Amino acid sequence: MNIGTPLSPSATRIMLLGSGELGKEVIIALQRLGVEVIAVDRYANAPGHQVAHRAHVIDMTDSAALKALIEQERPHLIVPEIEAISTEALAEIEAAGIAKVIPTVRAVQLTMNREGIRKLAAEELGLPTSAYAFAESVQQLQTAIENGIGYPCFVKPVMSSSGKGQSRITQASEVQTAWDYAASGGRVDKGLVIVEGQIAFDFEITLLTVRAIENGKVKTYFCEPIGHVQVKGDYVESWQPQVMSAPALERSQEIAKKVTDSLGGLGLFGVELFVRGDEVWFSEVSPRPHDTGMVTMATQRLNEFELHARAILGLPVDVSLLQHGASAVIYGGVDATGISYTGVEEALAVPETDVRLFGKPESFTRRRMGVALATGKDTDEARQRAKLAAAKVRPVA
Ligand SMILES: Nc1ncnc2c1ncn2[C@@H]1O[C@H](COP(=O)(O)OP(=O)(O)OP(=O)(O)O)[C@@H](O)[C@H]1O
Ligand SMILES: [Mg+2]
Repeated sequence: MNIGTPLSPSATRIMLLGSGELGKEVIIALQRLGVEVIAVDRYANAPGHQVAHRAHVIDMTDSAALKALIEQERPHLIVPEIEAISTEALAEIEAAGIAKVIPTVRAVQLTMNREGIRKLAAEELGLPTSAYAFAESVQQLQTAIENGIGYPCFVKPVMSSSGKGQSRITQASEVQTAWDYAASGGRVDKGLVIVEGQIAFDFEITLLTVRAIENGKVKTYFCEPIGHVQVKGDYVESWQPQVMSAPALERSQEIAKKVTDSLGGLGLFGVELFVRGDEVWFSEVSPRPHDTGMVTMATQRLNEFELHARAILGLPVDVSLLQHGASAVIYGGVDATGISYTGVEEALAVPETDVRLFGKPESFTRRRMGVALATGKDTDEARQRAKLAAAKVRPVA
């Protein structure tokens, strides 16, 4: 693919739908390749807005508003960064030949809803997953748990991310609370939850999987596995590589290949897997860079955002790991707008560290406002450094 000159008639235009911290890094990678980038989010001055050629604020679940903006901007590629998007608008835009959706409209549709991706993985592709059931009422939820899912189990809205509306429950008395929480925490479709039996894993990984062109054909590449810790369904720490047995790694790659082959298109995917010994279970997949993959900004020759940018443009990729590293999340700690960050100099005085502050206009106590990155002789050392650096950064209202 030729790349034109931004802001000229030859420009290669890419529109990001969702412009948070992950979108911001994809935009920076695209800017470096001379792409004209249009950043869209639901609020003004989102992280990606601050580094794009143009920025727009719209409700991306509003099909008419989304179509109008795409017709106005005429991007060549549309890159969804979030799940809450009108896929009906995307399908129409692609069918009309106006723009191509990354990786595919179907992949975006299937992965935005836990029902779609779970049925594809478990029922069509035959991949191992936790036991699961769907429920439309608290009674159905109760019955599903009693009839086989059992305790402990996880109750999640079918449309949600970052652990929103999700709870882990251990007894019948918690079912009502879990149902209410799921109904309040989900997006768009509030009527349906998934309940999953707990997998007692040794550790969980994200396997960044890239579908890119090599010699005119799509080839699948795997980054080194990323280990991570989640608190209440939200990632707090990640490291790369996660040590695992050869059979478990092979099995992980097989699962990731199957699911990404089925989703199709070009780009980077974050395949979430649970591992116990040599056994591996599929959990879910993002058809885009993954939050736990921010660690690759410290570890890989091309980070996950650069890999995504290259893959979607049809360019060659290189997934090689250069160093062991880790990431640790910096939370807002306060509810306020326009906060300041003290202690950045102390954070960066920790050896082999780096900090990304996302520039979000509004902070919440548990909102992810930045990330600390570190390398080390091994992932243990890198994790210690990343956590120490993250703790040194103190947001103040
Ligand atoms: N069935 C399960 N068995 C064991 N642990 C689970 C199960 N489901 C979820 N978890 C835990 O909760 C975390 C979040 O779950 P999940 O990935 O489904 O939610 P999410 O809202 O999509 O999160 P994110 O958007 O951050 O990926 C998992 O990474 C895992 O640590
Ligand atoms: Mg997840």
